[in-house]
Amino acid sequence: SLQQHVPQGLKSPPGPRGYPILGNALELRKDTHLALTRLSQKYGDVMEVRIGTRPVLVLSGLDTIRQALVKQGEDFMGRPDLHSFHHVADGQSLAFSPDSGEVWKARRKLAQNALKTFSVAPSPTSSSTCLLEEHVSKEADYLVIKFLQLMDEGKSFDPYRYIVVSVANVICAMCFGKRYDHNDQELLDIVNVSDQFGEVAASGNPADFIPLLRYLPSRTMSLFKDFNKRFLHFLQKIVKEHYRTYDKNNIRDITDSLIEQCLEKKVEANTAMQIPKEKIVNLVNDLFGAGFDTVATALSWSLMYLVTYPNIQKRIQEELDQTIGQERRPRLSDRGMLPYTEAFILEMFRHSSFLPFTIPHSTTRDTVLNGYYIPKDRCVFVNQWQVNHDEKLWKDPLTFDPERFLNAEGTEVNKVDGEKVLLFGLGKRKCIGEPIARWQVFLFLSTLLQQLEFSVCNGKKVDMTPLYGLTLKHKRCEHFQAKQRSPMKSTN
Ligand code: HEM
Repeated sequence: SLQQHVPQGLKSPPGPRGYPILGNALELRKDTHLALTRLSQKYGDVMEVRIGTRPVLVLSGLDTIRQALVKQGEDFMGRPDLHSFHHVADGQSLAFSPDSGEVWKARRKLAQNALKTFSVAPSPTSSSTCLLEEHVSKEADYLVIKFLQLMDEGKSFDPYRYIVVSVANVICAMCFGKRYDHNDQELLDIVNVSDQFGEVAASGNPADFIPLLRYLPSRTMSLFKDFNKRFLHFLQKIVKEHYRTYDKNNIRDITDSLIEQCLEKKVEANTAMQIPKEKIVNLVNDLFGAGFDTVATALSWSLMYLVTYPNIQKRIQEELDQTIGQERRPRLSDRGMLPYTEAFILEMFRHSSFLPFTIPHSTTRDTVLNGYYIPKDRCVFVNQWQVNHDEKLWKDPLTFDPERFLNAEGTEVNKVDGEKVLLFGLGKRKCIGEPIARWQVFLFLSTLLQQLEFSVCNGKKVDMTPLYGLTLKHKRCEHFQAKQRSPMKSTN
């Protein structure tokens, strides 16, 4: 029998009865985040479903998730060995591979340090506060010009295609010291089809749980494998070029600094472990991969909300006019003085919850959560969407209202409420790009909105229905319009 041994006095988590062989796969197939939120209302914060014959633990509720990922962080920091993850970065990914031991820990630290040095650390050479500010300002200015140019050429445009290249250029600048043209076909072939990745890497993909499905032809699976191959090839070419031109006296970017870590043997000094060389340099795969799709999706959802709620857009622009004016561009240091803009970003994160689940976790040992027994190697889904729409935490959770984060005078963001929004995970597997992502979203949005007013063509409406995947996308919309807000003052 499949019944595992549950220690005396403990019980297994409750959950819905499933069908033989399929388990609950059918009810979870569409909009998995909504289906699991509904089931959690019946079965509770610690629930067990079956996909195929494999049990999956589903966590809901902010307190329960904090208990598991933070207080019992060691127990829940693993990653499951899922079939589709084998194809990501040749099975060597920091984020998706099953490793959660010393090598993972050391790699995570290296990635974090390299990322920091080339983003938010004070810049010794540039006039900007830091390299991140310099890169984002440049790309956001470029986007403004591009959108106005597109308006000159036609009546409307699809902003996603341009946003994703601009965001990719920011992470490219940090990782590779390189920027791409908005028409570069090789880059477009990767960044424009990231849904080929997100559909398969989504939590609850049946092919990860029902082995039989792997032997049936699947278009989404072959697109996924193809995407990963192209992605790896694209990055390997750049890394090779970096090795060829490497100069230890001139560390140009994240790739150089990772090469330095291998060549200068700094790793051994810092950690007891010797990490294989290629597992250091290929950390750029994770940084680049995690760095463009997420931030581009955030900005794209932002534009969707801004055209749907023109009054909210106006209020952000008024705040920008009052605080920054038109004489200079927004800077990262302005962020603390723009509470409404900040509240909008938080509400966009909460309401869209465009990462509905974290990447799946797994238990590293037998453990107990809220009195339920959880065996080692149990696959765990963390339902961020549920937390962000929990009626126990939010009044009218389905309403989009940035003001829920502001004090009565509208002068300050309530920090405690802001921290209830769960989008970057928590604990030992928490996103390492979180600060960078938040800064980027702020600076892109404030720069765009200082100069442009966004709308959709007369009579058109944007479709906000989320499409399920690793990141929730919206349907592409070609009816966006942008117009210059107030004429730039001339400098003479
Ligand atoms: C992991 C969210 C941007 C790098 C994650 C996870 C989430 C997340 C939910 C999984 C957490 C878990 O499994 O518990 C986001 C969101 C972003 C964003 C919402 C943008 C708005 C970025 C950026 C970078 C980045 C810009 C890097 C440049 C990573 C890495 C991991 C990760 C490397 C894997 C960490 C590990 O497994 O140890 N992110 N992320 N992310 N993120 Fe992000």
